[in-house]
Amino acid sequence: MTAQTATLTIGDKTYEFPVVDGSVGPSVIDIRSLYAQTGMFTYDPGFTSTAACDSAITYIDGDKGELLYRGYSIDELAEKSSYLEVCYLLLYGELPTAAQMADFDKRITRHTMLHEQMHFLFRGFRRDAHPMAIMCGVVGAMAAFYHDSTDISDPEQREIAAMRMIAKMPTIAAMAFKYSVGQPFVYPRNDLSYAANFLHMCFSVPAENYEVNPILARAMDRIFTLHADHEQNASTSTVRLSGSSDANPFACIAAGVACLWGPAHGGANEACLNMLREIGTVDNIPEFVRRAKDKEDPFRLMGFGHRVYKNYDPRAKVMQETAREVLDLMGVENNQTLQVARELEKIALEDEYFVERKLYPNVDFYSGIILDAIGFPTSMFTAIFAMSRTVGWIAQWKEMIADPQKKIGRPRQLYDGATRRPYIPRQER
Ligand code: SDX
Repeated sequence: MTAQTATLTIGDKTYEFPVVDGSVGPSVIDIRSLYAQTGMFTYDPGFTSTAACDSAITYIDGDKGELLYRGYSIDELAEKSSYLEVCYLLLYGELPTAAQMADFDKRITRHTMLHEQMHFLFRGFRRDAHPMAIMCGVVGAMAAFYHDSTDISDPEQREIAAMRMIAKMPTIAAMAFKYSVGQPFVYPRNDLSYAANFLHMCFSVPAENYEVNPILARAMDRIFTLHADHEQNASTSTVRLSGSSDANPFACIAAGVACLWGPAHGGANEACLNMLREIGTVDNIPEFVRRAKDKEDPFRLMGFGHRVYKNYDPRAKVMQETAREVLDLMGVENNQTLQVARELEKIALEDEYFVERKLYPNVDFYSGIILDAIGFPTSMFTAIFAMSRTVGWIAQWKEMIADPQKKIGRPRQLYDGATRRPYIPRQER
Protein backbone atom coordinates (compact mmCIF):
# COMPACT_ATOMS: atom_id res chain seq x y z
CA MET A 1 0.00 0.00 0.00
CA THR A 2 1.55 3.34 -0.98
CA ALA A 3 2.50 5.48 1.98
CA GLN A 4 -0.02 8.27 2.54
CA THR A 5 0.99 11.87 3.13
CA ALA A 6 -0.86 14.77 4.74
CA THR A 7 -0.71 18.11 2.94
CA LEU A 8 -0.78 21.39 4.85
CA THR A 9 -1.22 24.69 3.02
CA ILE A 10 -0.27 27.93 4.79
CA GLY A 11 -0.62 31.01 2.63
CA ASP A 12 0.97 30.26 -0.71
CA LYS A 13 3.12 27.41 0.65
CA THR A 14 2.29 23.71 0.80
CA TYR A 15 3.93 21.24 3.14
CA GLU A 16 3.76 17.43 3.20
CA PHE A 17 3.95 15.17 6.23
CA PRO A 18 4.03 11.34 6.33
CA VAL A 19 0.96 9.49 7.64
CA VAL A 20 1.91 6.48 9.77
CA ASP A 21 -0.47 3.57 10.42
CA GLY A 22 -0.50 1.54 13.63
CA SER A 23 -1.57 -2.11 13.84
CA VAL A 24 -5.08 -0.92 14.82
CA GLY A 25 -6.71 2.40 15.69
CA PRO A 26 -6.14 5.96 14.39
CA SER A 27 -3.18 6.63 12.10
CA VAL A 28 -0.89 9.55 12.95
CA ILE A 29 0.48 12.49 10.99
CA ASP A 30 4.21 12.64 11.71
CA ILE A 31 4.73 16.37 12.28
CA ARG A 32 8.22 16.20 13.79
CA SER A 33 9.52 18.41 10.94
CA LEU A 34 6.65 20.92 11.20
CA TYR A 35 8.53 23.60 13.15
CA ALA A 36 11.66 23.28 10.99
CA GLN A 37 9.57 23.55 7.80
CA THR A 38 6.98 26.15 8.85
CA GLY A 39 8.30 27.91 11.97
CA MET A 40 4.96 27.03 13.59
CA PHE A 41 3.86 24.68 16.39
CA THR A 42 0.68 22.65 16.65
CA TYR A 43 -1.65 23.71 19.48
CA ASP A 44 -3.40 20.97 21.50
CA PRO A 45 -3.87 21.73 25.24
CA GLY A 46 -4.80 18.49 27.06
CA PHE A 47 -3.45 16.51 24.07
CA THR A 48 -6.93 15.68 22.76
CA SER A 49 -5.53 14.94 19.25
CA THR A 50 -1.87 14.23 20.00
CA ALA A 51 0.01 10.92 20.07
CA ALA A 52 3.02 11.53 22.32
CA CYS A 53 4.64 8.16 21.58
CA ASP A 54 4.14 4.82 19.89
CA SER A 55 3.44 1.85 22.15
CA ALA A 56 2.64 -1.85 21.87
CA ILE A 57 1.29 -2.34 25.39
CA THR A 58 -2.37 -1.27 25.68
CA TYR A 59 -5.01 -0.35 23.12
CA ILE A 60 -8.33 1.37 23.80
CA ASP A 61 -11.16 1.70 21.28
CA GLY A 62 -13.23 4.47 22.91
CA ASP A 63 -16.15 4.15 20.50
CA LYS A 64 -16.48 0.39 20.96
CA GLY A 65 -15.67 0.49 24.67
CA GLU A 66 -12.83 -1.97 24.13
CA LEU A 67 -9.62 -2.33 26.19
CA LEU A 68 -6.79 -4.71 25.18
CA TYR A 69 -3.62 -5.50 27.14
CA ARG A 70 -1.07 -6.75 24.56
CA GLY A 71 -4.07 -7.74 22.38
CA TYR A 72 -6.03 -9.64 25.06
CA SER A 73 -9.43 -8.15 26.02
CA ILE A 74 -9.88 -6.91 29.56
CA ASP A 75 -13.09 -8.95 29.94
CA GLU A 76 -11.24 -12.22 29.22
CA LEU A 77 -8.27 -11.31 31.39
CA ALA A 78 -10.51 -10.26 34.32
CA GLU A 79 -12.38 -13.55 34.10
CA LYS A 80 -9.62 -16.04 33.19
CA SER A 81 -6.27 -14.56 34.23
CA SER A 82 -4.74 -13.21 37.45
CA TYR A 83 -3.12 -9.90 38.27
CA LEU A 84 0.40 -11.32 38.45
CA GLU A 85 -0.06 -13.08 35.10
CA VAL A 86 -1.32 -9.76 33.67
CA CYS A 87 1.81 -8.10 35.12
CA TYR A 88 3.96 -10.57 33.22
CA LEU A 89 1.93 -9.97 30.03
CA LEU A 90 2.22 -6.18 30.29
CA LEU A 91 5.94 -6.29 31.07
CA TYR A 92 7.08 -8.93 28.57
CA GLY A 93 4.38 -8.89 25.87
CA GLU A 94 3.26 -12.53 26.01
CA LEU A 95 1.27 -14.72 28.41
CA PRO A 96 3.76 -16.77 30.50
CA THR A 97 4.21 -20.53 30.35
CA ALA A 98 3.75 -22.37 33.66
CA ALA A 99 7.52 -22.30 34.26
CA GLN A 100 7.79 -18.60 33.40
CA MET A 101 4.86 -17.81 35.71
CA ALA A 102 6.37 -19.78 38.59
CA ASP A 103 9.69 -17.98 38.18
CA PHE A 104 8.02 -14.55 37.94
CA ASP A 105 5.87 -15.25 40.99
CA LYS A 106 9.01 -16.22 42.94
CA ARG A 107 10.91 -13.11 41.81
CA ILE A 108 8.05 -10.83 42.90
CA THR A 109 7.49 -12.67 46.17
CA ARG A 110 11.15 -12.26 47.14
CA HIS A 111 10.81 -8.48 47.07
CA THR A 112 7.59 -7.94 49.08
CA MET A 113 9.31 -6.71 52.27
CA LEU A 114 10.28 -3.05 52.65
CA HIS A 115 13.72 -2.05 53.92
CA GLU A 116 13.27 -2.06 57.73
CA GLN A 117 14.75 1.43 57.99
CA MET A 118 11.82 2.75 55.88
CA HIS A 119 9.43 1.98 58.72
CA PHE A 120 10.81 5.07 60.45
CA LEU A 121 9.76 7.22 57.45
CA PHE A 122 6.12 6.54 58.30
CA ARG A 123 6.67 7.84 61.84
CA GLY A 124 7.34 11.28 60.37
CA PHE A 125 3.79 11.59 59.04
CA ARG A 126 0.74 12.72 61.04
CA ARG A 127 -1.55 9.78 61.81
CA ASP A 128 -4.31 11.42 59.76
CA ALA A 129 -2.09 11.90 56.70
CA HIS A 130 -3.84 10.86 53.47
CA PRO A 131 -2.43 7.49 52.28
CA MET A 132 -1.65 9.04 48.90
CA ALA A 133 0.49 11.72 50.58
CA ILE A 134 2.38 8.91 52.32
CA MET A 135 2.73 6.95 49.07
CA CYS A 136 4.10 9.99 47.20
CA GLY A 137 6.74 10.35 49.91
CA VAL A 138 7.64 6.72 50.53
CA VAL A 139 7.79 5.69 46.85
CA GLY A 140 10.09 8.61 46.05
CA ALA A 141 12.19 7.72 49.11
CA MET A 142 12.81 4.23 47.70
CA ALA A 143 15.60 5.87 45.67
CA ALA A 144 17.29 6.59 49.01
CA PHE A 145 17.26 2.89 49.96
CA TYR A 146 17.64 0.91 46.75
CA HIS A 147 20.68 2.60 45.17
CA ASP A 148 21.58 -0.65 43.40
CA SER A 149 18.56 -0.26 41.07
CA THR A 150 18.60 3.41 40.10
CA ASP A 151 20.96 3.32 37.11
CA ILE A 152 18.49 3.35 34.23
CA SER A 153 21.23 2.59 31.67
CA ASP A 154 21.65 -0.91 33.17
CA PRO A 155 18.89 -3.32 31.99
CA GLU A 156 19.54 -5.54 35.04
CA GLN A 157 18.93 -2.64 37.41
CA ARG A 158 15.80 -1.63 35.48
CA GLU A 159 14.49 -5.17 35.88
CA ILE A 160 15.21 -5.29 39.63
CA ALA A 161 13.61 -1.85 40.13
CA ALA A 162 10.51 -3.12 38.30
CA MET A 163 10.28 -6.23 40.52
CA ARG A 164 10.82 -4.16 43.66
CA MET A 165 8.05 -1.69 42.86
CA ILE A 166 5.46 -4.23 41.81
CA ALA A 167 6.24 -6.27 44.93
CA LYS A 168 6.51 -3.43 47.43
CA MET A 169 3.63 -1.16 46.46
CA PRO A 170 1.04 -3.36 48.26
CA THR A 171 3.29 -3.38 51.35
CA ILE A 172 3.62 0.42 51.25
CA ALA A 173 -0.13 0.90 50.70
CA ALA A 174 -0.98 -1.49 53.54
CA MET A 175 1.51 0.23 55.85
CA ALA A 176 -0.02 3.62 54.99
CA PHE A 177 -3.43 2.21 55.93
CA LYS A 178 -2.20 0.59 59.17
CA TYR A 179 -0.42 3.79 60.18
CA SER A 180 -3.59 5.84 59.61
CA VAL A 181 -5.65 3.55 61.88
CA GLY A 182 -2.96 3.29 64.56
CA GLN A 183 -2.42 -0.45 64.16
CA PRO A 184 0.99 -2.17 63.93
CA PHE A 185 2.43 -2.86 60.49
CA VAL A 186 1.86 -6.42 59.28
CA TYR A 187 4.69 -8.09 57.38
CA PRO A 188 3.95 -9.68 54.00
CA ARG A 189 3.44 -13.45 53.87
CA ASN A 190 5.06 -15.15 50.92
CA ASP A 191 2.75 -18.16 51.15
CA LEU A 192 -0.23 -16.00 50.14
CA SER A 193 -1.24 -14.83 46.66
CA TYR A 194 -0.62 -11.19 45.73
CA ALA A 195 -4.19 -10.09 46.51
CA ALA A 196 -4.59 -12.31 49.58
CA ASN A 197 -1.31 -10.97 50.94
CA PHE A 198 -2.54 -7.38 50.51
CA LEU A 199 -5.76 -8.14 52.42
CA HIS A 200 -3.69 -9.90 55.10
CA MET A 201 -1.35 -6.89 55.50
CA CYS A 202 -4.35 -4.54 55.71
CA PHE A 203 -6.79 -6.42 57.91
CA SER A 204 -4.91 -8.91 60.10
CA VAL A 205 -3.87 -7.88 63.62
CA PRO A 206 -1.34 -9.59 65.95
CA ALA A 207 -4.08 -10.13 68.54
CA GLU A 208 -5.99 -12.76 66.60
CA ASN A 209 -5.88 -15.10 63.64
CA TYR A 210 -7.04 -13.67 60.29
CA GLU A 211 -8.22 -15.86 57.43
CA VAL A 212 -8.38 -14.20 54.00
CA ASN A 213 -11.76 -14.79 52.36
CA PRO A 214 -10.95 -16.31 48.93
CA ILE A 215 -13.90 -14.57 47.27
CA LEU A 216 -12.67 -11.17 48.50
CA ALA A 217 -9.14 -12.06 47.40
CA ARG A 218 -10.50 -12.91 43.93
CA ALA A 219 -12.45 -9.63 43.81
CA MET A 220 -9.34 -7.70 44.87
CA ASP A 221 -7.23 -9.49 42.25
CA ARG A 222 -9.78 -8.56 39.58
CA ILE A 223 -9.75 -4.91 40.70
CA PHE A 224 -5.96 -4.90 40.37
CA THR A 225 -6.23 -6.34 36.83
CA LEU A 226 -8.85 -3.78 35.75
CA HIS A 227 -6.59 -0.90 36.86
CA ALA A 228 -3.26 -2.29 35.63
CA ASP A 229 -2.73 -0.12 32.54
CA HIS A 230 -4.62 2.28 30.31
CA GLU A 231 -2.36 3.59 27.50
CA GLN A 232 -1.23 7.24 27.76
CA ASN A 233 -3.48 8.53 30.59
CA ALA A 234 -2.34 11.52 32.64
CA SER A 235 -0.31 9.61 35.24
CA THR A 236 1.33 7.32 32.68
CA SER A 237 2.25 10.34 30.57
CA THR A 238 3.71 11.89 33.75
CA VAL A 239 5.83 8.78 34.33
CA ARG A 240 7.00 8.83 30.69
CA LEU A 241 7.83 12.55 30.81
CA SER A 242 9.74 12.11 34.09
CA GLY A 243 11.56 9.09 32.67
CA SER A 244 12.51 11.01 29.50
CA SER A 245 14.93 13.06 31.61
CA ASP A 246 16.61 9.78 32.79
CA ALA A 247 15.25 10.28 36.32
CA ASN A 248 15.51 7.12 38.42
CA PRO A 249 12.51 4.72 38.27
CA PHE A 250 11.38 5.37 41.86
CA ALA A 251 11.19 9.14 41.20
CA CYS A 252 9.20 8.49 38.01
CA ILE A 253 6.67 6.24 39.75
CA ALA A 254 6.36 8.75 42.63
CA ALA A 255 5.47 11.38 39.97
CA GLY A 256 2.82 9.02 38.60
CA VAL A 257 1.38 8.52 42.10
CA ALA A 258 1.15 12.30 42.56
CA CYS A 259 -0.66 12.80 39.25
CA LEU A 260 -3.06 9.89 39.80
CA TRP A 261 -4.19 11.46 43.09
CA GLY A 262 -6.17 14.19 41.29
CA PRO A 263 -9.99 13.78 41.49
CA ALA A 264 -10.23 14.20 37.72
CA HIS A 265 -8.08 11.04 37.40
CA GLY A 266 -7.44 8.25 39.92
CA GLY A 267 -8.82 10.30 42.80
CA ALA A 268 -12.27 9.98 41.21
CA ASN A 269 -12.99 6.66 42.96
CA GLU A 270 -12.73 8.33 46.38
CA ALA A 271 -14.64 11.39 45.15
CA CYS A 272 -17.32 9.18 43.57
CA LEU A 273 -18.15 7.27 46.76
CA ASN A 274 -18.21 10.54 48.70
CA MET A 275 -20.59 11.92 46.05
CA LEU A 276 -22.87 8.85 46.21
CA ARG A 277 -23.00 9.23 49.99
CA GLU A 278 -23.72 12.96 49.69
CA ILE A 279 -26.61 12.15 47.32
CA GLY A 280 -27.75 9.73 50.02
CA THR A 281 -31.08 8.59 48.60
CA VAL A 282 -32.50 7.99 45.16
CA ASP A 283 -34.91 10.95 45.36
CA ASN A 284 -31.97 13.38 45.70
CA ILE A 285 -30.52 12.29 42.35
CA PRO A 286 -32.36 14.80 40.08
CA GLU A 287 -30.86 17.77 41.99
CA PHE A 288 -27.33 16.42 41.56
CA VAL A 289 -27.89 15.65 37.88
CA ARG A 290 -29.14 19.22 37.45
CA ARG A 291 -26.01 20.56 39.15
CA ALA A 292 -23.76 18.36 36.98
CA LYS A 293 -25.33 19.97 33.90
CA ASP A 294 -25.13 23.53 35.23
CA LYS A 295 -22.13 25.28 33.72
CA GLU A 296 -22.14 27.75 36.63
CA ASP A 297 -21.75 24.89 39.08
CA PRO A 298 -18.27 23.24 39.25
CA PHE A 299 -19.92 19.98 40.39
CA ARG A 300 -19.41 17.03 38.04
CA LEU A 301 -20.71 13.48 38.36
CA MET A 302 -17.59 11.72 39.65
CA GLY A 303 -17.01 8.34 38.02
CA PHE A 304 -18.71 9.58 34.85
CA GLY A 305 -17.16 10.59 31.55
CA HIS A 306 -13.83 9.79 29.97
CA ARG A 307 -11.43 11.38 27.50
CA VAL A 308 -11.25 8.22 25.41
CA TYR A 309 -14.32 6.10 26.15
CA LYS A 310 -17.36 7.47 24.34
CA ASN A 311 -19.12 4.25 25.22
CA TYR A 312 -19.40 2.24 28.43
CA ASP A 313 -15.97 1.74 30.06
CA PRO A 314 -15.54 -2.06 29.82
CA ARG A 315 -13.92 -2.01 33.26
CA ALA A 316 -17.04 -0.45 34.78
CA LYS A 317 -19.12 -3.40 33.56
CA VAL A 318 -16.85 -5.94 35.27
CA MET A 319 -16.72 -3.71 38.34
CA GLN A 320 -20.51 -3.61 38.57
CA GLU A 321 -20.73 -7.42 38.46
CA THR A 322 -18.00 -7.68 41.10
CA ALA A 323 -19.82 -5.18 43.32
CA ARG A 324 -22.91 -7.42 43.31
CA GLU A 325 -20.80 -10.52 44.15
CA VAL A 326 -18.99 -8.84 47.04
CA LEU A 327 -22.12 -7.25 48.51
CA ASP A 328 -23.91 -10.63 48.33
CA LEU A 329 -20.98 -12.28 50.06
CA MET A 330 -20.89 -9.61 52.74
CA GLY A 331 -24.63 -10.14 53.22
CA VAL A 332 -25.26 -6.51 52.30
CA GLU A 333 -28.72 -6.75 50.79
CA ASN A 334 -30.20 -3.47 49.60
CA ASN A 335 -27.01 -1.42 49.80
CA GLN A 336 -28.27 2.17 49.64
CA THR A 337 -25.10 3.40 47.92
CA LEU A 338 -25.31 0.74 45.20
CA GLN A 339 -29.00 1.55 44.69
CA VAL A 340 -28.16 5.26 44.30
CA ALA A 341 -25.31 4.39 41.90
CA ARG A 342 -27.54 2.18 39.73
CA GLU A 343 -30.40 4.72 39.66
CA LEU A 344 -27.95 7.58 38.97
CA GLU A 345 -26.46 5.62 36.06
CA LYS A 346 -29.95 4.88 34.69
CA ILE A 347 -31.11 8.52 34.93
CA ALA A 348 -27.88 9.94 33.51
CA LEU A 349 -27.81 7.52 30.56
CA GLU A 350 -31.35 8.63 29.61
CA ASP A 351 -30.55 12.35 29.95
CA GLU A 352 -29.87 14.26 26.71
CA TYR A 353 -26.93 16.18 28.26
CA PHE A 354 -25.02 12.96 29.02
CA VAL A 355 -26.18 11.17 25.87
CA GLU A 356 -25.04 13.89 23.46
CA ARG A 357 -21.69 14.20 25.28
CA LYS A 358 -21.32 10.40 25.37
CA LEU A 359 -20.74 10.40 29.13
CA TYR A 360 -20.82 6.90 30.61
CA PRO A 361 -19.73 5.39 33.93
CA ASN A 362 -15.97 4.84 34.04
CA VAL A 363 -13.74 2.52 36.05
CA ASP A 364 -14.16 4.68 39.16
CA PHE A 365 -17.94 4.57 39.32
CA TYR A 366 -18.40 1.19 41.03
CA SER A 367 -14.94 0.43 42.39
CA GLY A 368 -15.48 2.44 45.56
CA ILE A 369 -18.62 0.47 46.44
CA ILE A 370 -16.61 -2.77 46.35
CA LEU A 371 -13.66 -1.41 48.32
CA ASP A 372 -16.01 0.09 50.90
CA ALA A 373 -17.82 -3.26 51.28
CA ILE A 374 -14.48 -5.04 51.75
CA GLY A 375 -13.70 -2.62 54.59
CA PHE A 376 -11.36 0.01 53.13
CA PRO A 377 -11.83 3.68 54.04
CA THR A 378 -12.39 5.99 51.02
CA SER A 379 -8.93 7.48 51.62
CA MET A 380 -7.40 4.13 50.59
CA PHE A 381 -9.20 3.87 47.24
CA THR A 382 -6.70 5.82 45.16
CA ALA A 383 -3.76 4.17 46.92
CA ILE A 384 -5.19 0.82 45.73
CA PHE A 385 -5.53 2.27 42.22
CA ALA A 386 -1.87 3.43 42.40
CA MET A 387 -0.55 0.02 43.45
CA SER A 388 -2.56 -1.66 40.67
CA ARG A 389 -1.33 0.83 38.07
CA THR A 390 2.33 0.53 39.07
CA VAL A 391 2.87 -2.36 36.63
CA GLY A 392 1.41 -0.26 33.79
CA TRP A 393 3.59 2.71 34.66
CA ILE A 394 6.64 0.43 34.83
CA ALA A 395 5.86 -1.35 31.55
CA GLN A 396 5.38 1.98 29.74
CA TRP A 397 8.53 3.42 31.36
CA LYS A 398 10.61 0.37 30.30
CA GLU A 399 9.22 0.64 26.75
CA MET A 400 10.19 4.31 26.58
CA ILE A 401 13.71 3.78 28.02
CA ALA A 402 14.37 0.98 25.50
CA ASP A 403 13.07 3.09 22.56
CA PRO A 404 15.98 4.07 20.28
CA GLN A 405 14.02 7.23 19.39
CA LYS A 406 13.83 8.26 23.08
CA LYS A 407 14.14 12.02 23.52
CA ILE A 408 13.56 14.25 26.51
CA GLY A 409 9.95 15.46 26.44
CA ARG A 410 9.89 19.23 25.99
CA PRO A 411 6.59 20.70 24.66
CA ARG A 412 6.51 24.26 23.33
CA GLN A 413 3.77 26.90 23.78
CA LEU A 414 1.65 29.63 22.22
CA TYR A 415 3.06 32.70 23.98
CA ASP A 416 0.50 35.49 24.55
CA GLY A 417 2.28 37.43 27.31
CA ALA A 418 4.07 40.80 27.28
CA THR A 419 6.54 41.47 24.46
CA ARG A 420 10.01 42.87 25.23
CA ARG A 421 9.90 46.06 27.36
CA PRO A 422 12.54 48.13 29.32
CA TYR A 423 12.94 47.84 33.11
CA ILE A 424 11.38 50.87 34.93
CA PRO A 425 13.17 51.92 38.17
CA ARG A 426 10.83 51.54 41.15
CA GLN A 427 10.80 55.29 41.98
CA GLU A 428 9.43 55.95 38.46
CA ARG A 429 6.56 53.41 38.55
C1 SDX B 1 -9.65 7.87 35.14
O1 SDX B 1 -7.26 8.77 30.88
C2 SDX B 1 -7.53 7.65 31.44
O2 SDX B 1 -7.44 6.62 30.81
C3 SDX B 1 -7.92 7.72 32.93
C4 SDX B 1 -8.35 6.40 33.58
C5 SDX B 1 -7.20 5.44 33.67
O3 SDX B 1 -7.48 4.23 33.78
O4 SDX B 1 -6.04 5.88 33.75
O5 SDX B 1 -9.41 5.82 32.82
C6 SDX B 1 -8.84 6.63 35.01
O6 SDX B 1 -9.10 8.90 35.44
C7 SDX B 1 -11.12 7.82 34.80
C8 SDX B 1 -11.79 9.25 34.85
C9 SDX B 1 -12.07 9.56 36.31
N1 SDX B 1 -12.53 10.96 36.46
C10 SDX B 1 -13.81 11.23 36.79
O7 SDX B 1 -14.71 10.40 36.89
C11 SDX B 1 -14.06 12.72 37.09
C12 SDX B 1 -15.35 13.16 36.37
N2 SDX B 1 -15.10 13.12 34.93
C13 SDX B 1 -14.70 14.37 34.28
O8 SDX B 1 -13.94 15.22 35.07
C14 SDX B 1 -14.27 14.17 32.82
O9 SDX B 1 -15.19 13.36 32.23
C15 SDX B 1 -12.88 13.65 32.52
C16 SDX B 1 -11.81 14.44 33.20
C17 SDX B 1 -12.77 12.23 32.92
C18 SDX B 1 -12.68 13.74 30.99
O10 SDX B 1 -12.69 15.08 30.67
P1 SDX B 1 -12.45 15.56 29.15
O11 SDX B 1 -12.20 14.44 28.23
O12 SDX B 1 -11.46 16.67 29.18
O13 SDX B 1 -13.86 16.05 28.75
P2 SDX B 1 -14.37 17.50 28.99
O14 SDX B 1 -14.01 17.94 30.37
O15 SDX B 1 -13.95 18.34 27.84
O16 SDX B 1 -15.95 17.26 28.96
C19 SDX B 1 -16.65 17.26 27.73
C20 SDX B 1 -18.03 17.79 28.10
C21 SDX B 1 -17.97 19.11 28.85
O17 SDX B 1 -19.21 19.76 28.62
P3 SDX B 1 -19.26 20.90 27.40
O18 SDX B 1 -18.14 21.88 27.71
O19 SDX B 1 -19.04 20.13 26.13
O20 SDX B 1 -20.64 21.50 27.53
O21 SDX B 1 -18.66 16.85 29.01
C22 SDX B 1 -18.88 17.49 30.26
C23 SDX B 1 -17.97 18.71 30.31
O22 SDX B 1 -18.54 19.71 31.15
N3 SDX B 1 -18.53 16.51 31.28
C24 SDX B 1 -19.22 16.29 32.40
C25 SDX B 1 -18.54 15.24 33.05
N4 SDX B 1 -17.48 14.87 32.33
C26 SDX B 1 -17.47 15.65 31.23
N5 SDX B 1 -20.34 16.88 32.91
C27 SDX B 1 -20.77 16.39 34.10
N6 SDX B 1 -20.19 15.37 34.77
C28 SDX B 1 -19.07 14.78 34.29
N7 SDX B 1 -18.49 13.79 34.96
